[in-house]
This record gives sequence, C-alpha cells and structure tokens, in this order.
Amino acid sequence: MSRTKIVAGNWKMNLVSQEAKDLVNQLIELCKPLADNPKVRIILAPASVYLSSVFTQVEDHPHFSVSAQNLHEGDQGAFTGEISGSMIRSTGASFVLVGHSERRTLFGETDSTLAAKTNAAIRNGLSPIFCIGESLEERENEKTFDILQSQLMNGLFHLSLSEMAGVIIAYEPVWAIGTGKTASPEQAQEVHAFIRRLLTEKYGELAQRIPILYGGSVNPGNAETLFACPDIDGGLVGGASLKAQDFHAIIQAMYKG
Ligand code: 13P
Repeated sequence: MSRTKIVAGNWKMNLVSQEAKDLVNQLIELCKPLADNPKVRIILAPASVYLSSVFTQVEDHPHFSVSAQNLHEGDQGAFTGEISGSMIRSTGASFVLVGHSERRTLFGETDSTLAAKTNAAIRNGLSPIFCIGESLEERENEKTFDILQSQLMNGLFHLSLSEMAGVIIAYEPVWAIGTGKTASPEQAQEVHAFIRRLLTEKYGELAQRIPILYGGSVNPGNAETLFACPDIDGGLVGGASLKAQDFHAIIQAMYKG
C-alpha cells in the first residue's frame, strides 16, 4: 500500500519576517528539480503571523503546503491572542499541528482540549497533524505504549472514519525533541507499527492509508535510515527545517526511502 510521503518543517517560534521569506525562496529553488516527480509533500509550518505570506510564496509550487502550529478550539469570539481554524484556512494553509509536546507540556493542553482542537481543524477544512509522544521517564518505566494509546484514544479516536481519512499522525518522543538524541530506526518502527495496529483495530483498512511521521532530531545524517522503515511515512522536522540545505537534504532522503 503506498501512502503519501511527507516532510514537514515545524519552525516553532523562530525567524523574523525577512528570514522566513529567504528560507522559503531558498527551499523553492532547491526543490525545483523535485517538482517533476512530486512524490513527497513538503509542508511548512511557520509562526502564524507568516501563514499568508508563506502561502503566497509557495502557491505556484504545488508540492508545497502550509500548516499552522496551533489553533483555538472555537470558531470566533473574545479569545484575545488566539487564532481559529477558519482564520488559518483563510490564509491558504491546509494543515495544522495539534498536540505538539510543547503545547501539551508548556501550555497545559489536555487530551480533551486536543480532541476539541482536532474537531475545530476538521470543521474548518484543515487536516490535523496530530502529535503524540512519551517522555523519557515514561519510556524508562515501560509506559510508552500505554501513553501513546491513551493520547490517541482520548484526543483522536473519537473521529468518524471519514473524518479520520484526512488526518496525519506524528510520533515525536519528547526525549528526542531538540536534544540531538534520535530514536533508533528500530525503536521508531516498533512504535509506528504499534500505532498502525491501533489504527487498524479502530478504522480497519483506512489504517494503511494514514501517514505516520517521525519527529525528534531528524537531520540529514539520520533521515534516510529512519525513512526506510516500512511504517515511517516521513518526518516532522524542527531545528533542521530552519536551514534550507539541511531541510532539502532530508526531503531528498525521503525520495530514497
Ligand atoms: P527537532 O527536530 O528540533 O528535534 O524538533 C522536532 C519537533 O518538535 C518537530 O515538531
């Protein structure tokens, strides 16, 4: 079963306006040769203030898409500082990260908030990139599979079959994010296969079509072996997505996988 291959760059709270523009221009230039063989979807997740301008830059390059990093669960109202799914959609973005570990741990987002955010994304025509992952302590206490299962059950698995069809899942072990420590391909594949098993139990055949991305210190040196794993359908890249050459090298690794 062939699944969409995806390399997504989560810029987090980085880059000022001109830097963001320059990075996108460099990526468009570097990725031009790939446009004839658009096997890999490239998703850029800038800070929300740049969603419109990044979308305008990539609009004529159909292998690129734009994602927000977060959304509010409501559609409008008195929520100073928040952005809604409809606002994100109106910029041209088509994806949104939901449940990144930094949102869970630094901003207290719970499973029930994330379930509501997932609904808000879908209601507004955005595909959620739903992030899950265990902490180092949870891994060391052999809680990894329990934690991942509960994150999926409580934040995502309320979706109907048709709603689930547009979802992307990202497995990002918290201990591998921004630390330079990557899950080994064996560790990552074991988890991805587990996630796909849970998807199969709940959604049957559809599980074979849902992309599951790996995130956590992906770089040009480790991308190819990670992407070669049968259940790893791409990467969600933080630090290395801020450097055009590195991100391009990671995209190229996906072409080899
Ligand atoms: P790093 O690639 O910097 O470890 O970040 C991963 C991440 O959190 C992507 O969402």
